[in-house]
Amino acid sequence: MTETVRTRVAIVGAGPAGLMLAHLLASDGIESVVIDRRSRDEIEHTIRAGILEQATVELLETTGASSRVRTVGTRHDGIELRFAGEGHRIDFAGLTGRGVWLYPQHEVLKDLLEVRLAAGQDIRFGVTALRVEDPDSARPRVIASDAAGRPVTIEADFVVGADGSHSAVRQSVSGSHAGYFREYPFAWFGILCEAPPSSEELIYSNSPHGFALVSQRSASVQRMYLQCDPELDPESMSEREIWDQLQLRVDGHTLAEGPIFQRDVLRFRSFVAHELVTGRTALIGDAAHTVPPTGAKGMNLAIADVVLLHRALAALLHAHDVRPLESFTTVALERIWMAQHFSWWMTSMLHTAPDASDFDRRRQEGELRAVVGSESARRFLAECYTGWPFTTEL
Ligand code: PHB
Repeated sequence: MTETVRTRVAIVGAGPAGLMLAHLLASDGIESVVIDRRSRDEIEHTIRAGILEQATVELLETTGASSRVRTVGTRHDGIELRFAGEGHRIDFAGLTGRGVWLYPQHEVLKDLLEVRLAAGQDIRFGVTALRVEDPDSARPRVIASDAAGRPVTIEADFVVGADGSHSAVRQSVSGSHAGYFREYPFAWFGILCEAPPSSEELIYSNSPHGFALVSQRSASVQRMYLQCDPELDPESMSEREIWDQLQLRVDGHTLAEGPIFQRDVLRFRSFVAHELVTGRTALIGDAAHTVPPTGAKGMNLAIADVVLLHRALAALLHAHDVRPLESFTTVALERIWMAQHFSWWMTSMLHTAPDASDFDRRRQEGELRAVVGSESARRFLAECYTGWPFTTEL
């Protein structure tokens, strides 16, 4: 027997985009159902990136989505760009008056899940979306199956695909390759280790041996990344080899070492879907676009989509006004492409392509020198990194 659930907005994906959208809709009295194929435990323990733009932090706080972001998270007023053995600080606060917050994505998810579940939000874990039926009609449906394989149908006025880069909603409404796509010839090997912070701020380091990023999680746990081959087996390197590689690439700055307790390889892709809205179905977050992690834009861009889609859905569902939804794609894509550019730029400026020639390496060092030597260029980088103001006009 198929279980049929009726709601106003069916949201596929309990990541930051899906949960934040459910949260904002609830504040307008618009009921939604969220499904996710993962368990709550899996969602709360998947390690993802950790940088929040100031506007994201303000939104999480003012809407009551996260009360811990400022107390547990830490404010960063700059980053270090390193190359040729020297560090150069990009002073975000001095250049833009803004900063960013280091607060890992799974902490945001814990906060959002707690707040939404306490408010009685219908969130179904272990429920896998298979396809969307009749996305162009006034009654689109998500066809799904629960953890025991039983069919579940969610009928709604609107369906939102917030189900990540392999989005079933996107594949169902527009085919899996309906977008602009770029792959990179490298990936990041990420580790978590037990050690004190190696520096006050994040270090983005370019070196002839490849890129490295020194990030943080807490006073006793650190997150670091090494540029690697996308096919690298994360278990193939010993702890000694990992530390030697990190140290070699963060040349001239001593890292605090400690036991490594988690390893993963992150693929690099840039993707933007051709269509964000099909009838009564929209895509947000990684389902709509993927950025390489170098600019720390992924989650922030997802939240910017949510702010806009929330406006469009409130107009549609409260006032039967379809115009904001009609402008959603155009307005959202402006920011998405700005973030695509920044993520691509940071990636290309800092990584060493496997086939880089001597010319390429020297040109890249010239680019880095030009950026750190120019207040205008540093300000541009700082503006992009700390994030553009959220657009709410549609
Ligand atoms: C992280 O801490 O995971 C992190 C920080 C900055 C980035 C990407 C990832 O650009």
